[in-house]
This record gives sequence, structure tokens and C-alpha cells, in this order.
Amino acid sequence: MDKRDIEEIVRNEIVKSVLDSQEFIIAGNWKMNKSKQEVISFLDDVANHDFGDKNKIIIAPPNPYLYLFEEKLRYSKVLYGVQNLFPKESGAFTGELSYAVAKEFGAKYAIIGHSERRTLFDECDILVSKKVRICVQNQIIPILCIGENLDQRRSGDYRQHLSNQIREGLIRISGNELQDVIIAYEPIWAIGTGETASPAQVEETHMFIREFLVNEYGNDLGKDIPLLYGGSVKPSNVKELALAQSVSGFLIGGASLEASTIIEINDILSNK
Ligand code: 13P
Repeated sequence: MDKRDIEEIVRNEIVKSVLDSQEFIIAGNWKMNKSKQEVISFLDDVANHDFGDKNKIIIAPPNPYLYLFEEKLRYSKVLYGVQNLFPKESGAFTGELSYAVAKEFGAKYAIIGHSERRTLFDECDILVSKKVRICVQNQIIPILCIGENLDQRRSGDYRQHLSNQIREGLIRISGNELQDVIIAYEPIWAIGTGETASPAQVEETHMFIREFLVNEYGNDLGKDIPLLYGGSVKPSNVKELALAQSVSGFLIGGASLEASTIIEINDILSNK
């Protein structure tokens, strides 16, 4: 056996032990996609599928489909949430979804501050922080999205940008409330472009974010906040990305639309 064979065996053992032991969050953001019929057949495919006990599957569909999710996933381990919500219980807020309605339909998670909302709908950090607050107050787990654009990545300013987004997004959250927050790092330049951040870039950035969280909020809280990666994640790259340090799971757009792909990703992350 030569040196390369031994290295390969060692590497396979490391991959196996990471995939066997680590629990991953696999969250799907459907954005503005899917017909009613497509949603029904997706739910029929996943509702009784055995995803195992290790990973957590979360899907965020367009709002009208929450009704179907509630009905079809009642006895399933697949969880679901919303892609956005407004930080009020009810009132004159045309076109918005309240946390109260989301909760009534069984949503347990809410994606907050996605880069598409920040750039296309001018959402600012203040509004994002109010949304995070209302979620935590009402037992909906916010998935706070952060991420830099290509200019910020190229200029090297991305670290400052990411730490500002976290600090501002969590400004209304204190102490133990941080246990109920998930952060998703989604570099804008890797969303929907097919261009994934390399495992080395993901590891470097996640390690930076983890260090920031520990410094800012203390070791006990900072070390445990789940940190997802998002941006062109698919079955062909998810294993390499899962091996990057401080990756607790994934926020997946395009590849979350098909039940078979979600099942495949879960299988890969379960080392099946
Ligand atoms: P893609 O996986 O399609 O790149 O989308 C990522 C994303 O924006 C998830 O929120």
C-alpha cells in the first residue's frame, strides 16, 4: 500500500465519522416556485419517507401552501416554516403575513433577512432585527440570513459586513434567547448562480463567524448557534461542504424543490 492509498483510507474514515456523528439541518427555501399540484406530489413523497433520526428537514414554501403542509405533514418528522413575516400580530399591513397566522398553520421556522429581501425589497437591518425579535418572542425559530456581495468579497470587506449584519440582526435578542436562533451564511455571489463557495472559503468564513459569535455573546451561547451555509448547494457538492468546520447544515434553494433531491442530500449527510 503506498502513501496515497493510506491517505485515502484515513480521509474516508474521517468523512465517515463526521457524517455518522454530526446532526445536520437541511433547510429548503422554495422562494416563489411550485404549482399546487407539484406541492401535493412533493408532500406525498416526503410525508412518509424515513429520513432517519439524525438530520432535521425544514421546508419553507410560498405562504398559500402552508395549509397543505399542515394537513399532509401532521404525522411527519419533516418541519416547515415561512420565507418571511411581518413583525406585528395583525392590522393594516397590506400584503404581509403575521407571525400569528404563520404559527397557526404550524410554521416552526422563519427565514429572516434573506439577501433577496434585503436587495429587492430594501429590507434594512432595523426591520430584520424586529422580525428576529417577534420570532423569538413567539416560539418561531428565525433563520437569520447574512452574506456579502461579490464586491465585498473581492475587496476583503466581507468580514466587517458579516459581523455588522449579525450584530444588527441580533440587537434585540439577549442572553439565553440566542439559543433559539439559527444563522445562515449565504454569499450573494453564490446564490442561484451555480457558483458555490469552495469548501475552504466556507470553512474560513464559518470559522470567522463562529469566532465572532463567541467573542460577542460568550462561549456558552456563541459556540452552539447553528450556522448554515447556502448558495448553490446540491447533491454533488454537499458532502465536501459538510466537512468544512463549523457547518451545521444548509439552506438550499433550487435543489430543495424536488423531493428526490432532498432525500438524496439527506442520504449523503447520513452516510447512506
Ligand atoms: P440556491 O441554492 O438556489 O443557490 O439558493 C440559495 C438560497 O438563496 C437559499 O436561501
